[in-house]
Amino acid sequence: MIWHPYTIQLDSDPPLKIVSAKGEFLYDENGKEYIDAISSWWVSIHGHNHPKLVDAVKKQLDSLDHVLLAGFTHPPALELAHELLEFTDWHFRKVVFSDNGSTALEIMLKIALQYFRNQGREKKKVFINFSYSYHGDTIGAMSVGGDSVFNRVFQSLLFQTKNFPSPACHDCPVFKSPHSCAEDCLDELEAYLSAHSEEVVGVVMEPLIAGAGGMLFHKPSVLTRLREITERYDVLLLLDEVFTGFGRTGANFAYQKAGIRPDMVALAKGLTAGILPLAVTLVREEIYKEFLSSEPMKAFYHGHTMTGYPPGCASALASLKIYKEENRLADVRRLESYLEEGWSKLRAEFPDKIKNTRVLGSVGVGELFTGKVQPGYVNPFAREFRRICQEKGVILRPLGNVIYVTPPYNISKSSLDKVFQAIREGLSAYKIQD
Ligand SMILES: Cc1ncc(COP(=O)(O)O)c(C=O)c1O
Repeated sequence: MIWHPYTIQLDSDPPLKIVSAKGEFLYDENGKEYIDAISSWWVSIHGHNHPKLVDAVKKQLDSLDHVLLAGFTHPPALELAHELLEFTDWHFRKVVFSDNGSTALEIMLKIALQYFRNQGREKKKVFINFSYSYHGDTIGAMSVGGDSVFNRVFQSLLFQTKNFPSPACHDCPVFKSPHSCAEDCLDELEAYLSAHSEEVVGVVMEPLIAGAGGMLFHKPSVLTRLREITERYDVLLLLDEVFTGFGRTGANFAYQKAGIRPDMVALAKGLTAGILPLAVTLVREEIYKEFLSSEPMKAFYHGHTMTGYPPGCASALASLKIYKEENRLADVRRLESYLEEGWSKLRAEFPDKIKNTRVLGSVGVGELFTGKVQPGYVNPFAREFRRICQEKGVILRPLGNVIYVTPPYNISKSSLDKVFQAIREGLSAYKIQD
């Protein structure tokens, strides 16, 4: 009946039927407990079914279910917009609501393009992106993603971008070491902008971690340099913090680690902590000003039916409150050191299997050698590994040969120990084919 996402239709394991959840745990129909070590695709930052989040949604449903956001407004959207602008230090002026990360990206791309159109700068059409980036599954979001199994079939539908190698400090695309690095991975991009900036709308990037493309990390200084370059050449910096936002990298937002101000930022996932689907695109004053016009063709014509869904806004407000009150950043700091410890022990135990480990905030990654098998998402190891972990009561979904742990920030140490034990067993069974 259900066409499951990201699932090879023949020969896949049957889906695990989950009937309830609490904290870091999921429970199947037989009552078996599983540790959700990936926060259900990186959303459940406070763990599942946090009672305050559930209450906030129930309370909202008692007063207002939904009203369209064109020509109407309502308290949860107003309050959430204010909270988000304050939480991002008033660097942004407007909050555009949507339903998921992909739509938040589409909105960011469309506003960016129209910002220049509204100024009569028609030549600006090109978006710059990075090779291993992932921004969602809608056509625009796929267009600015790097080439991958996710979007390859749809190439003929995608708009052209100018693509550059992803900065990835553990595997530097320009062969520098941490000591010799001067953010040289952006030299080529800068050279391109110096010749073509009048055609370029903006640079789209996942700051600090390219997630679905293989959990590639770069230093904050790369972002700092990118901001300098984009400012110099009058090109927008469009950041996708759908994954990295709300504490994932150890700061509220990844861009803050680089001390920069992007022109727009897309947020979803941790925004409602998985309680309801909701996303936002935050827009700077300078951009919004170009839409402040009585000319109909300068308006932004984009709005989804459920835009600004009141219970979604109420859940995001409650999530932000919990995030501050329960000091999630302190949880992430603790988690970061547990992840470092866990991965360094495994690396010492499996030096022939683990090629690289990296940890940032609540993201802990182990990348494996693959021998003659191609690395990447469709590496068959992932499926076998998932099975072994599931058997042990741990939910993990490696990106091919890249195992990652992205648990709720407040996961207990004992659960995390079980996660690493399951990884250990998965690694023991792993055979590299030479
Ligand atoms: C960085 C990034 N951007 C965008 C998206 C798309 O978000 P959604 O799946 O909510 O459309 C994702 C999803 O994983 C993501 O990781």
